[in-house]
Amino acid sequence: MCANVLAAVAWPYANGPRHIGHVSGFGVPSDVFSRFMRMSGHRVLMISGSDEHGTAIQVKADQEGLTAAQTADKYHTIICHDLQGLGLSYDLYTRTTTANHREVVQEVFRTLHRNGYIVSKTQMGAISPSTGRTLPDRFIEGTCPHCGYEGARGDQCDNCGRQLDPIDLKNPRSRINGETPEFRENEHFFLDLPALAQQLETWLNDRTDWRPNVLAFSHNLLKELRPRAITRDLDWGIPIPVEGWEDNQMKRIYVWFDAVIGYLSASIEWARRSGNPDAWKDFWHEERARSYYFMGKDNIVFHSVIWPGILLGVNGEGSKGGELSPLLGRLDLPTEIVSSEFLTMRGSKVASSRGASIFVGDFLREFGPDALRYFIAVAGPENQDTDFTWEEFVRRTNFELANEWGNLVNRSISMAHKNVGAIPAANELEDIDRELLDASAGAFTTVGELLEQCKFKAAITEAMRIVSLANKYLSDTEPWKLKDNPARRETVLHVALQVVQDCNTLLTPFLPHASQKIFEALGGQGTWAAMPQLEEVSEGESTYTVLRGDYTTELGKWTSTPIEVGRPLAKPSPLFAKLDEKLAETGPEWAPITPIA
Ligand code: MF3
Ligand code: ZN
Repeated sequence: MCANVLAAVAWPYANGPRHIGHVSGFGVPSDVFSRFMRMSGHRVLMISGSDEHGTAIQVKADQEGLTAAQTADKYHTIICHDLQGLGLSYDLYTRTTTANHREVVQEVFRTLHRNGYIVSKTQMGAISPSTGRTLPDRFIEGTCPHCGYEGARGDQCDNCGRQLDPIDLKNPRSRINGETPEFRENEHFFLDLPALAQQLETWLNDRTDWRPNVLAFSHNLLKELRPRAITRDLDWGIPIPVEGWEDNQMKRIYVWFDAVIGYLSASIEWARRSGNPDAWKDFWHEERARSYYFMGKDNIVFHSVIWPGILLGVNGEGSKGGELSPLLGRLDLPTEIVSSEFLTMRGSKVASSRGASIFVGDFLREFGPDALRYFIAVAGPENQDTDFTWEEFVRRTNFELANEWGNLVNRSISMAHKNVGAIPAANELEDIDRELLDASAGAFTTVGELLEQCKFKAAITEAMRIVSLANKYLSDTEPWKLKDNPARRETVLHVALQVVQDCNTLLTPFLPHASQKIFEALGGQGTWAAMPQLEEVSEGESTYTVLRGDYTTELGKWTSTPIEVGRPLAKPSPLFAKLDEKLAETGPEWAPITPIA
């Protein structure tokens, strides 16, 4: 049953600090999944990095008066801190500006080119009349020729989902400065998606267990596949590894083509850094290996069509056949695409004066990681766009995390500490005891199955249901009234503590920081849930920050383990601080709510 599991997490653009919407799409879901998979005995490789090339970074650099490289450095470092603070357990979080990444991207490009899946074409390209630079597709806006939607982008219409060319747009305008682009003849390389369409279709037809909206969306994209430009007129990006193009300063590989290859290059970098340079192959070459890709919904097309298309072409499996790269071999296609909808920050009754800018860093400083992780898991945009409100955040934190879970842990351990000083043994079990123990032991199967299917919201809701059962058990059995019956009191406290331990295990993927504390409060020693570490690594002359972690020493396992009778218990300290109710109306100082006028 145990297979190697690749958790491939979308690469955030290094063009600003991340806000909570970003990490609710790719961050928390992928970490919950990876932690659960490790606890269940799988070998997991969780990789990602900062997406540092392309226009998004160039535009930001121009705004800040920095070079693109300086901008990427600056935000890569900030993002590393954000992700580390949230406890996202990457085996490697790297960046796309490394020499390793460039080499892997160029090898993929050369292989596709040799196999005939990259062809050059001359087409009309958009130029900004004021700067002479190419205006990238997604920085052009206009009216969709198919559905009439006015906010369509040059690469895609978000309303009808069709792929577009900027020249198809009616009333095109630059999103950077509003000017009307000029279209000129320009030579570029294209990924020949039509030559890969049939294989893509066959492969997609097997993906019956994907979320239905992702599957329908992807099938739809296949209906009108066209060759897609994978180079751009830009001086910030990976040079094109074709004779006559390599030295052209104004032509670079398109950022999306480069970024998706990051999953592979980061796996290779991880293997090298871990001392076994071939280890990445366990996650890419094995039939039984599974790969899960985590992202926000605007990334679906790149992961469900373009990336699999690239992989099929590298494998020589499209209509033009082809040969494998000796360096890369035959690569596995994605097993699952796990995409989230959007977390919006509009506020139903109120609006934040800073709009969509609740930054992860600010959030973590004030509320800590697990409150945010809990909110995203239980109330995040798993299946539909969801609005973040401070009101809901306060409610979830105070009534669920603090009152339900924090309180259960606290009163169970306090009572045992006060009355016994250690974990008491159970005497004779009654039905009410057995029922609760069975429910919590059974939850490893039910919650586990939900997590396996990436149904995070249902999974945490089920785990919290057991927490409520345990609270109800304490109100029903009233151990505080059992002074005259210490034998029964010890049984009740034993059962309560066993269920606290079980629930702590069930909640570990969601609340890893709290789980470590609870593990220790129950007398445990060692690392229950491991955390990622910031590290400075070098490559040639340069050094950069990465996130890495050693998760193999983790003690947390996805099973109910009997608590150790006799372990001394200390007086517990409260786990989750209650938030001031006023926060619901005012928001914090750094993201205040201003009433809509
Ligand atoms: N940087 C992109 C975004 O934020 C995501 C890139 S994901 C990968 O939308 F495929 F490129 F890795
Ligand atoms: Zn449209």
